[in-house]
Amino acid sequence: MSATLSHQPSDRFGSGSTLQPMQIGDLDAVLDLEQRAYPFPWTRGNFIDSLAAGYLARLLRDAQGQLLGYFLAMPGVAEMHLLNIAVAPEHQGQGHARRMLDALSALAREQECEQIWLEVRRSNARAREVYARYGYVETGIRRAYYPAVAGQREDAVLMSLELGEVVR
Ligand SMILES: CC(C)(COP(=O)(O)OP(=O)(O)OC[C@H]1O[C@@H](n2cnc3c(N)ncnc32)[C@H](O)[C@@H]1OP(=O)(O)O)[C@@H](O)C(=O)NCCC(=O)NCCS
Repeated sequence: MSATLSHQPSDRFGSGSTLQPMQIGDLDAVLDLEQRAYPFPWTRGNFIDSLAAGYLARLLRDAQGQLLGYFLAMPGVAEMHLLNIAVAPEHQGQGHARRMLDALSALAREQECEQIWLEVRRSNARAREVYARYGYVETGIRRAYYPAVAGQREDAVLMSLELGEVVR
């Protein structure tokens, strides 16, 4: 994790929800949400590795401190790779993903990224719709990228968002 990450002030959204750095101590709550949000969830080790690598990792909490969602992204050269974004099932459809995508875009711009990209399961129509409505466009397919039921594999759809010219 970057030295500054845990010292960054929280970002407060108009709804009273707050964006905060994800810490190791948050992982019980994160894993609980992850396992309710995904049929093939990340493991605790996946989160630990991402935090140890210093990737961007943010939690969205409501005004009472309840975990609404989170995202993790890997910075690269002039690009940001969104690795995971999830909203608790009981809080979906209320714009929380859009708020986190806004925060990700702002963080990516701060890091002089020109593009954000991601992979999403071909069958994940909801997430693909959310990204498309946000402005991400489908740019390719990775065949048999994800594990699927009964030992099958599923394609990933590649999507990207151009952030426009970065003022340096
Ligand atoms: C995908 C996910 C993160 C979306 O979170 P969310 O908080 O429900 O999304 P939002 O409420 O911010 O929706 C964003 C936009 O998509 C729209 N939208 C939301 N659900 C939709 C649906 N089922 N069909 C069509 N549009 C939808 C919203 O209306 C909103 O559009 P708008 O801003 O133009 O009004 C959430 O469903 C989730 O956690 N899914 C499980 C984990 C997952 O699949 N993550 C993505 C992995 S690649």
